[in-house]
Amino acid sequence: MRFLMFREQRLLLLLVAALVISALACSPEAALQVGFYRATCPIAEDVVLAEMKLILMEDSTLLPSLLRMHYHDCFVQGCDGSIMLKSRKRKAERDALPNHSMRGYDAIERIKAQLETICPLTVSCADIIAIAARDAVYLSHGPWYEVETGRRDGNVTVAEYAENDLAPPDSNIVDVKTFFSVKSLNSKDIAVLFGCHSIGTSHCGSIRQRLYNFTGKMDQDPSLDPAYAAQLRKLCPPPGPGDADHGEGKTKVPMDPGSGYRFDLSYYRHVLATGGLFQSDGSLLKDPVTRDYIEKVANASSPDEYYADLAAAMVKMGRTDVLYGDLGEIRPTCGVFVD
Ligand code: HEM
Repeated sequence: MRFLMFREQRLLLLLVAALVISALACSPEAALQVGFYRATCPIAEDVVLAEMKLILMEDSTLLPSLLRMHYHDCFVQGCDGSIMLKSRKRKAERDALPNHSMRGYDAIERIKAQLETICPLTVSCADIIAIAARDAVYLSHGPWYEVETGRRDGNVTVAEYAENDLAPPDSNIVDVKTFFSVKSLNSKDIAVLFGCHSIGTSHCGSIRQRLYNFTGKMDQDPSLDPAYAAQLRKLCPPPGPGDADHGEGKTKVPMDPGSGYRFDLSYYRHVLATGGLFQSDGSLLKDPVTRDYIEKVANASSPDEYYADLAAAMVKMGRTDVLYGDLGEIRPTCGVFVD
């Protein structure tokens, strides 16, 4: 009797183990791997890094945009490179409002063209974007982390998906948590990933309402630090013709003033002290988990723990709804449909 129970328990354990293994075999964690191109295109990551170094010399403002591109790619139908596809009959993601200010498409195409000459139809656009995002962090004095690769590219792109799946800058904490939780990212991931606003700029269009017409009564957002608001009002005068949306208008302001192109902890100090550039940045102070995290990083004496968290969160975001194995495609040009 005891023997039978033991046997049954073992069978049950094996069954559970088999289920776990088969679940893992189908999960992106199992499908993606560090060094996926080791055998098929061993210099893939070197080619991306070399091009990113050239970009740093030619136009360093492209680095933050390429980091942002990975986020915008992953949140819209998964990290599948579909952000690169150009509009055909249907308006594509890249022409959707949240992507009006996105730059760096040509840089990704240049990298892709080089890789096509070395290892044709091998490296996906989604992976190039993920590697470029890591390199953007690294070349901005942030941490180096291992990027998982093995993603394949999607061939569907719909502007409305980008409009629905990317949170607007005036999002409150409930909205932000909703947008991220549907991508399986939790409150800590949110607080960590927002640290990417440590580098780069925003067009004035994304903050004018906050500065000049917060509740429709020509007022200013009361949660914004008055001294910071005064600085922003100088940089971003009241709306004029052509400033109607996030991407229009030429003036830009740093998201992390003082260290706008250095990937460091000062974004967190800035949010804590001023409420941050966007309402969504400031919204992190309204939730106990995200607020605790912001306070912890803002007061940290070393960036090491934050950098480790960033690496983990970027890898996690990079697994969002990926295509792998026989799914999706590898196309010769990222922006052009194969059929
Ligand atoms: C609720 C979430 C988020 C919102 C509402 C948001 C919003 C924005 C907005 C409005 C801009 C300025 C665009 C412009 O006017 O040029 C921006 C820039 C940027 N965002 Fe975010 N963002 C979010 C999350 C993230 C995440 C998760 C990352 C990275 C993983 C990221 C990385 C960046 C970077 C690097 C820039 C600078 C781009 C440049 O300088 O060209 N953002 N974001």
